Amino acid sequence: MRILGIETSCDDTGVAIYDSINGIIFNKLVNQSTINDHYGGIVPELAARKHLIVLPHLIKQALHFNNISKGCINAIAYTAGPGLAGSLLVGASLGSALAFSLNIPTIIVNHMEGHLLTPMLENNKPKFPFLALLVSGGHTQLINAHDWGVYTLLGESLDDSVGEAFDKVAKLLGLKYPGGPNLSQLATFGIKNKFVFPRPMINHSGFNFSFSGLKTYVANFIKKLDDNFQNRADIAKEFENSVVDILVNKCKKALIKLNYVNLVVSGGVSANYQLRRRINKMVCKYGKKVFYSNLELCTDNAAMIAYVGMLRFEQSRTINNLKISIYPRWLITDLNKI
Ligand code: KG4
Ligand code: ZN
Repeated sequence: MRILGIETSCDDTGVAIYDSINGIIFNKLVNQSTINDHYGGIVPELAARKHLIVLPHLIKQALHFNNISKGCINAIAYTAGPGLAGSLLVGASLGSALAFSLNIPTIIVNHMEGHLLTPMLENNKPKFPFLALLVSGGHTQLINAHDWGVYTLLGESLDDSVGEAFDKVAKLLGLKYPGGPNLSQLATFGIKNKFVFPRPMINHSGFNFSFSGLKTYVANFIKKLDDNFQNRADIAKEFENSVVDILVNKCKKALIKLNYVNLVVSGGVSANYQLRRRINKMVCKYGKKVFYSNLELCTDNAAMIAYVGMLRFEQSRTINNLKISIYPRWLITDLNKI
């Protein structure tokens, strides 16, 4: 069985094919970093138009790759939410049109479930139940993953997501979009503890986060300092440290409180080296286990959509019979309400 997955929730256009025997047999992504960099962020209308240009080419490549014929695709899975409405609509419309022409069903996939389950594509897979830290450009959530498709929210950011905070601080430091990896790279030149930034809500009871105050603190801090490379690197270092302290601390508290052994860390920010290093250290100290995805699959991709599409197809769930559906605010905790 083969599922073609389409990802267009935000600014990356992705197409992948998941084969039930061989796993991911095609996976391609085109990003819009040049456009985003020009405007200093994502412009939703431009993102949607770019998907419209790129997506048909990627689908053609997928269907011609290694003689994969259209006839051996059993269903088309597309991201139906959460995401930007215009971007989601491009993937949903094209996916539905192609499925109609091939006389196969469509499967709607929640983008955050895609991120959550990406570590399942590795050889060493987490077993349910587990705690998941989802850290992306749009979300910062601690999730109680009870079983396939059964997730409850433990806590989330009350304002900016952690990826957003990385990107905004990176912009203040004059770095290109997407700022997260660039900021992290700059931080490697920084001197540890030269500056001290706040760790919002780190000792707060409960599992919510807040990053917008930290971002404002850094913005004001930058104004008072000389603009030179070392100062910028030191700021990047302390900002990254502060964010990592908060994330590691909340994960530790949740693992202990819920008595979970397994922790999954996924989403774009899970590619962060310092975050992985500190989480690894923490789980080792407390006798827990952590699971990540391969670095290339941390950020947005269609492989995770094709994979979740396969799971949902096997369970005959969220099969859509060609209705074009998008849910820009679809919560991972509401999978079954759709
Ligand atoms: O999961 P993702 O690709 O997109 C969303 O679903 O939002 O996450 C993108 C986010 C961006 O904010 C990007 O700056 C951040 O992930 N990111 C990183 C790193 N790699 C990507 N942040 C910190 N360190 C990284 N190495
Ligand atoms: Zn994402």
